[in-house]
Amino acid sequence: MLLATAVTGVVFAASVAVIGTADAASTLGASAAQTGRYFGAAIAAGKLGDATYTGILNREFNAVTPENEMKWDATEPSQGRFTYTNGDRILNQGISMGAKIRGHALLWHQQQPSWAQGLSGSALRSAALNHVTQVATHYRGKIYAWDVVNEAFADGGSGARRDSNLQRTGNDWIEAAFRAARAADPGAKLCYNDYNTDGVNAKSTGVYNMVKDFKSRGVPIDCVGFQSHLGTSIPGDYQSNLQRFADLGVEVQITELDVAQGGNQATIYAAVTRACMAVSRCGGITVWGIRDSDSWRTGENPLLFDASGNKKAAYTSVLNALNAGGPTNPTTPPPTTPVTSPPTSNPPSGACAASVSLNSWSGGYVATVRVTAGSAGVNGWTVSLPLPSGSALTSTWNATNTGTTGTVTFHNVSYNGQIAAGGYTEFGFQGTGAGPTATPGCAAG
Ligand code: XIL
Repeated sequence: MLLATAVTGVVFAASVAVIGTADAASTLGASAAQTGRYFGAAIAAGKLGDATYTGILNREFNAVTPENEMKWDATEPSQGRFTYTNGDRILNQGISMGAKIRGHALLWHQQQPSWAQGLSGSALRSAALNHVTQVATHYRGKIYAWDVVNEAFADGGSGARRDSNLQRTGNDWIEAAFRAARAADPGAKLCYNDYNTDGVNAKSTGVYNMVKDFKSRGVPIDCVGFQSHLGTSIPGDYQSNLQRFADLGVEVQITELDVAQGGNQATIYAAVTRACMAVSRCGGITVWGIRDSDSWRTGENPLLFDASGNKKAAYTSVLNALNAGGPTNPTTPPPTTPVTSPPTSNPPSGACAASVSLNSWSGGYVATVRVTAGSAGVNGWTVSLPLPSGSALTSTWNATNTGTTGTVTFHNVSYNGQIAAGGYTEFGFQGTGAGPTATPGCAAG
């Protein structure tokens, strides 16, 4: 009977003070849900057979993040060959719990497959955008929020981008990634995620300026993740830092919380939770693991449950802070633009058909083209598509193109020329100006 619906933060907080904790929810997820928030954990596919682990997971959490299973090295171990077995295990675990699923992470300078580490320039740019398109398409409609780009800013006082192979493809790689992600899954919130951005400092201000710029230019970004891998203290301006991002019109999320065990662990956990609860646009908190023995920070015991699965003092302090309430989080779906539907009838035998899904913004677009084979299948295909005048193609993935203006033709690459009878493959391209509206032609062979 906690006043979970339609009460303002002020009334809610006052009500809790009157009601006391007798009516409080008794799990992290249920308590967070009372203000429209989630409380999640990073989980590992390899641990889902551990009954203690899944017992806590099912009981306490209403959001999950794959600790490693949706990273680039896991999902595209060789170029153009995608493996989703472990990512799907996390997805299905989350679905079975009715949990929100945070996708992590489409592009990052770490945990890249070795083939991508060896690429540079336009080959890397195309491969990276193709990766974003393919993985976000595979999980389309299932993901609450994607970490589209992870850890792209440098530590220290510069406030600048970190050097990386991705950064060396051009400063616009981040916005290109966000646009490709939006085109692939218009229903997912798209986040930028980083560490050491938990207080107001040069690095977080660099991120802040990027988000502000993206917002002003219509680059699709919906949320900012603050990893919050904390030591024995918390920045005094933690909450006001969250608030300044929220004031840009993005959701803020605590995405990878863990706190070194020391005298202050429970206090710091409570302070982080109170900060999120005080910022209406703070959507939720994710801890980076379940038990201390599951943590990547070996020996630091930074989580809410001990190695045996018992609740620690930090657990109680988080639950109390959640139950103390706060302003309700306005869950706003991300803006979407209409996407054209794929063809409803199959092409004739020996032939192929192509259709375009478009995501446009003022001055540019990302197009995803689906090539569907007829009842005989095809071995090689060519798609021709007239671009409107003023439109020019800037990058293509999963196909090669001839021409960049007027009628552009796209040809399959080595790994997607063969399409089985009735099957399809997709390629994409990005362009400036207005996107194509004509129906593309498709020729087999
Ligand atoms: C860590 C995982 O927890 C480890 O299992 C893995 O070996 C390395 O990556 N920032 C991130 C996370 O965004 O993906 C990292 O996860 C921790 C730091």
